[in-house]
Amino acid sequence: MVRVRTLVSRPVRGLNGAARPPGDKSISHRALILGACAVGATGIEGLLDADDVAATARALEAMGARVRAGSDGLTYVTGLGVGGLGEPEGVLDLGNSGTGARLLMGAVATHAMRATFTGDASLSRRPMGRVIAPLEAMGAQIAARGDGLLPLTIDGAAEPIPIEYAMPVASAQVKSAVLLAGLNAPGVTSVIETAPTRDHTETMLRHFGAEVAVADGPDGRVVSVTGYPELEAKRVVVPADPSSAAFPLVAALVTAGSQITLARVGMNPLRAGLLVCLREMGAAIEAGGEGEDGGEPVADLTVRSSGLEGIAVPAGRAPAMIDEYPALAVAAAFARGTTVLEGIAELRVKESDRLAAIARGLAACGVEVEEGEASLAIHGAGAPPRGLAKDAPPIETHGDHRIAMAFLVLGAGAANPVAVDGAEMIATSFPDFPGFMNALGADIVDGGEGLTAP
Ligand code: S3P
Repeated sequence: MVRVRTLVSRPVRGLNGAARPPGDKSISHRALILGACAVGATGIEGLLDADDVAATARALEAMGARVRAGSDGLTYVTGLGVGGLGEPEGVLDLGNSGTGARLLMGAVATHAMRATFTGDASLSRRPMGRVIAPLEAMGAQIAARGDGLLPLTIDGAAEPIPIEYAMPVASAQVKSAVLLAGLNAPGVTSVIETAPTRDHTETMLRHFGAEVAVADGPDGRVVSVTGYPELEAKRVVVPADPSSAAFPLVAALVTAGSQITLARVGMNPLRAGLLVCLREMGAAIEAGGEGEDGGEPVADLTVRSSGLEGIAVPAGRAPAMIDEYPALAVAAAFARGTTVLEGIAELRVKESDRLAAIARGLAACGVEVEEGEASLAIHGAGAPPRGLAKDAPPIETHGDHRIAMAFLVLGAGAANPVAVDGAEMIATSFPDFPGFMNALGADIVDGGEGLTAP
């Protein structure tokens, strides 16, 4: 049994004000990794200061890069150049971070050195076979526990082989691992994706001076990188994370009497599936102040509480909102009618089995929900759900930050308060989430400590 912190979200009358959500987690990992592969000092503005990103920074330092906080508020990475990572003395512990583990496995796979990767209980349950297969094809030797699980040891290829890899799953992490491996391989390394996934790696590789080509082929989008580029240190500006913004955004939609503005939120179309869904449901969300941060589109989003209608969310939208289903499920719980989420099997291998965690949590809050193997049907009553029954135990988050935040959001607009366990995990992506939400008018308070299975 492990000690876990409980947070309680009590219903409030409305959320109001303006705030900038924390920096984008995906882009923060990439800025650190590409900074470490470039020559010189990369200054990163708005780097996400959260546990997942800190784990990636520590791993890069263990391989010889230098990561320091500057007096100007920027984070500086002194890089080693392409092919310059050094063999770490200790084990690389990526904590809860699937992105950190999978992207760094790619970077390490084409360096002639040995590195061992580990992570927490959640990360140690997540499938690594999806990155092991292409990295072995590039010449790395990888010994993993069980059926492709952490801990695992990579003996990087001394003579890397460039590959053309058709991805069996739509995963930006797999695509990025292969492209990062391709940096230190001769010739051109390509990934074919049948469904386009977030393209932050491609955008940032170009920013650092790599040659990246994107073309539409008969089997999907082909993304290629030319090996051995001379990457030069660059300044990177990190937009606010749309996946973190999703939580206050949905909270404002479902809590009557709300109007909030979320500043400089990343608007990359390959991450915008949630906004598409919410607008289809009737959400009042206005984008203004459009601009660009670090080569990524950003906007200020103003959100007002809205009466929502249930919708059918097509499977094809999943890659553009893969992390947003917990937040969308909460919106669906307040909507009038049924919202059907299809093609979401990938949710079962995220930080927790999110499909099951959403279904159980919604049921505990009095929402009618049907769980399929790869789908959810959420029957909204067009009114605030009950929230937790009196004396019910906290929602089980299974150590999943986004499950915790989603149910705290539900509590803000529900009839009764909602408590969640494992709230310390929120620090993996959204440091001081309660403080951020409470400054807008939420009422999220500490519910003390409890015990749970690891
Ligand atoms: C991420 C990609 C997604 C997402 C994760 C971050 C990334 O995973 O769930 O939180 O930064 O590339 P998959 O690409 O494996 O679906």
